[in-house]
Amino acid sequence: MMKKLFLMGLLLPAMLKAQDKTLYPASPVPDRIMLTFAGEPATSQAVTWRTDSVTVKGVAELKLASPHPAREVKPQVFDAVTQPLQLAGATASYHTVNFTNLQPATQYMYRVGDGAQNWSEWIHFTTAEKGFKPFSFIYMGDAQNDHKSLWSRAIRAAYAKDPQARFMLHAGDLINRTNVDNEWGEWFYAGSWIYSMMPTIATPGNHEYYRDENRTLTITKHWRPMFAFPENGPHGLEERAYYVDYQQLRVISICSQSFLLNPADSVSQMAWLEDLLKNNPNRWTVVTMHHPVFSSKEGRDNKSLRDALRPMFEKYKVDLVLTGHDHTYGRGIGEQSARGKKIKLKGPVYLTSVSGPKQYVPALDGWQQRAGANTQFYQIVNVGENTLRYQSFTITGELYDAFDLERKKGANVLVDKAPAMKELLDLPPSYTEELTAEQQETYRKKVIEHQQKTSE
Ligand SMILES: [Fe+2]
Repeated sequence: MMKKLFLMGLLLPAMLKAQDKTLYPASPVPDRIMLTFAGEPATSQAVTWRTDSVTVKGVAELKLASPHPAREVKPQVFDAVTQPLQLAGATASYHTVNFTNLQPATQYMYRVGDGAQNWSEWIHFTTAEKGFKPFSFIYMGDAQNDHKSLWSRAIRAAYAKDPQARFMLHAGDLINRTNVDNEWGEWFYAGSWIYSMMPTIATPGNHEYYRDENRTLTITKHWRPMFAFPENGPHGLEERAYYVDYQQLRVISICSQSFLLNPADSVSQMAWLEDLLKNNPNRWTVVTMHHPVFSSKEGRDNKSLRDALRPMFEKYKVDLVLTGHDHTYGRGIGEQSARGKKIKLKGPVYLTSVSGPKQYVPALDGWQQRAGANTQFYQIVNVGENTLRYQSFTITGELYDAFDLERKKGANVLVDKAPAMKELLDLPPSYTEELTAEQQETYRKKVIEHQQKTSE
């Protein structure tokens, strides 16, 4: 035994070193190119990218997109703000440019580089309309683990299903361990150039946070250099609590981790949120945060979050609340969801979803109109003038869940369009070993009860 422990003591540092070895090193050539909105999406477009730390100058070039090579067309040149990211073995420069004074609804081409030798390819993006125009966006639950081997299927399938989607929204836990560069390396390996063409909106999850040496809750060191999100949230939560107005859709990111763990951050976010919801000139409103209002994982419940936010969501008519964290699928409207093909709503539709391979046991306690387990999903939301259409797909492309929100005299009617496909509720295989026969039997009974309710 002693010998074993001694050997472990010797091996552990070596194992840790191997795990932290930089597998995705930066080079002078730009990589990790990421579009986000830092300002008004009709007239601006932000981009960030990475180079090695020796490269301290960043430049982005921009011109109207052309079907011709357009080599002779002189680009507009934007100097980047460059900041170092210092992590053991993974030091790099991150560069940010916000293209401003753009024309709405216009296709541009851009490239990023050092202004001399090293450039990215030319890449297209299109600015938003100034007013309303129908569009779609993609919503993904937790990616978190095995990005390269298994999550890559999800992001690529989502992109292939709707390449015209105007942005991709990630509901937190994009990675598993903070400050581990290899995980972001895999996240970028999986999404690659999709991130450079389709803007990302992301809300942080618990796995994006760590406690620093003073035990202060701190966002992963990658977050702020790597993303250029709007700095329009409460002081101290910049780029984590923020909002984007896109063609009459207001998307609000609440930082639920700090909301749950820092009382001061919940107070500041409540005041900020109320102001945003009260003074909202947009047609539709979507809130995203990592932790769900109604949990879809067995044994979880974020009561304080629900007690604080649900009344506000109902009062100000939030349409959708898009969350993650529970590694299962769930859709519903309240503790005991009303059933039926058409339901007049008093509040939002609550969603939890998962895009990565980590899977939990679902809670089937009555709030879900549609539930799912042991499956990777992506979602597409079509934002129309009077109808918001939500669809969830398995990553092999089957429609798994769907509903429309029809706006009638200022209120929403939910029209259930879930397909006939049987709900996927078999437990993840690992749980069939972990749970006792009795626990499995309890779960089996819950499934039957749930299926009876949802077929009523
Ligand atoms: Fe989480």
